[in-house]
Amino acid sequence: MKPHTYRFVFAALLLTMLAVFGIAFTADSEPQNSSLKTDGMKDAKLAEEKMMSKQEERIMSKDKKILVVCYSFSRGNTRKIAKQLQTVLDADYAEIEPTHPYPPYGGWNSEVTEQGKREVEAGFMPEIKPLAVNIADYDIIAVGTPTWWFTMAPPMHTFLKSQDWTGKTVIPFMTHGGWPGHVITDIKEYCAGAKFAAAMEIQFDSEGGDHMLTSQADIDAWLEGLRKELR
Ligand SMILES: Cc1cc2nc3c(=O)[nH]c(=O)nc-3n(C[C@H](O)[C@H](O)[C@H](O)COP(=O)(O)O)c2cc1C
Repeated sequence: MKPHTYRFVFAALLLTMLAVFGIAFTADSEPQNSSLKTDGMKDAKLAEEKMMSKQEERIMSKDKKILVVCYSFSRGNTRKIAKQLQTVLDADYAEIEPTHPYPPYGGWNSEVTEQGKREVEAGFMPEIKPLAVNIADYDIIAVGTPTWWFTMAPPMHTFLKSQDWTGKTVIPFMTHGGWPGHVITDIKEYCAGAKFAAAMEIQFDSEGGDHMLTSQADIDAWLEGLRKELR
């Protein structure tokens, strides 16, 4: 064969080999691509299923969002109980604050005792500062107040009346100095549309001080009952 014939045969062979490898590569790479696509879709589906089951789990396991809201004025008694609830129920926490603070408490003869009486008797609802949380975001809300003249303190009255309680579960609790009155009944009345978990009345000393008379064991039993029921 002449040299240019060799060159021709060599070029033809080279072209044939390139064509064969080209086909093989394309044929091989196509399924790889589609398997990548399929894997990606599978991952997305799995993630979606996982998310769904987490939501279902949350509903089924009663793992609801819980908030503890309290008003506490004279000795921090109600706050003390609210903080225990927050810990046991692993809840968020918020406190009600009147826009115009009451005069300081200095025992039964304080100016605030008379002001409180006037407000309760008139059904007055003092303006309160907006809460840092949104009640609509929670499934279960514990609400705690000191007793003022046999009912809840007026700032709690304002708060309860300003919310929509439909479909919520409310845990009512209150502190008092020996004359509990009708606080729990009133909380239930103002939370129209709510269901209620176990309520609690906690007694402090009759001097309006911070000496707790209800035993811590009773409070622990109430807290444990709530934890079992709601968590
Ligand atoms: C204005 C006012 C009215 C109160 N009225 C009552 C009452 O009717 N019955 C009662 O048992 N205690 C009454 N107390 C006492 C408080 O309810 C009690 O000391 C409570 O634990 C205080 O909670 P705090 O420290 O969270 O504010 C009254 C206290 C104040 C300041």
